[in-house]
Amino acid sequence: MTELKDNINKSKLPCHIAIIMDGNGRWARERGSHRIFGHQNGVTAVKESVEAAGELGVKYMTLFAFSKENWFRPQEEIDALMQLMISTINSETETLIKNNVRLLVIGDIQSLPVNIVKKLNEVIELTRENIRLTLVVALSYGARWEIADAAKRIAEDVNSGKLEKDAIDEKIFSEYLVTKNIPDPELLIRTSGEFRLSNFLLWQIAYSEMYFSPTLWPDFRKEDLYKAIIDFQKRERRFGKTSDQLKCE
Ligand code: FPP
Repeated sequence: MTELKDNINKSKLPCHIAIIMDGNGRWARERGSHRIFGHQNGVTAVKESVEAAGELGVKYMTLFAFSKENWFRPQEEIDALMQLMISTINSETETLIKNNVRLLVIGDIQSLPVNIVKKLNEVIELTRENIRLTLVVALSYGARWEIADAAKRIAEDVNSGKLEKDAIDEKIFSEYLVTKNIPDPELLIRTSGEFRLSNFLLWQIAYSEMYFSPTLWPDFRKEDLYKAIIDFQKRERRFGKTSDQLKCE
């Protein structure tokens, strides 16, 4: 019997997959449980997705783990999420190293608790040279914050004479974003049947293919990722050109 995975064309893999992990709260509610129980079970889906990406040969995977807007959630939930982040990083460090996975974090890092920042920096350093897969965790991240922050730093550099105003173009602007040196996602997945971008990587997804999965995040497994990739591979990516032009390339 052919498995779903066998239908993936390894020569047409998306280089970078970004995921909006959504539905933890609803998953928990369906079970009459607290939202935190949903987040805890979401960790299994994180592990499955990262493992599947590494096995397939996807080079970058970005996970939206905590948004700037998430700071407005009840303090109890924020604390539990931060705790979960720390315990997951602690328990998974060895696996990241063993599997040649590099960890990066994007977002307003200064706003995170110091113990988290310290731990993250340790693991980022430990995995710095790993090349199989880059796992990018978006923490305290918001695209509008990121773009405004980039504009502010560009203005500072123009004022100090470090940057010429007329030199500012899309490429220069990208270098002021938190995703500097990370290729744009080719595939963006959102789980839980919601069709929103929720302030995630708004600059970087200009040409990304969107895939919306009805699965609640804690139920997301390797097969769900395979389905998204297979769907991505059926699409024709035109980048503003016509079908005929693409055939000639
Ligand atoms: C969205 O579901 C999920 C989050 C805000 C948190 C995701 C975090 C994890 C899975 C923890 C571990 C992550 C890493 C990378 C170690 P929701 O709470 O918005 O769900 P709802 O829309 O059903 O309420």
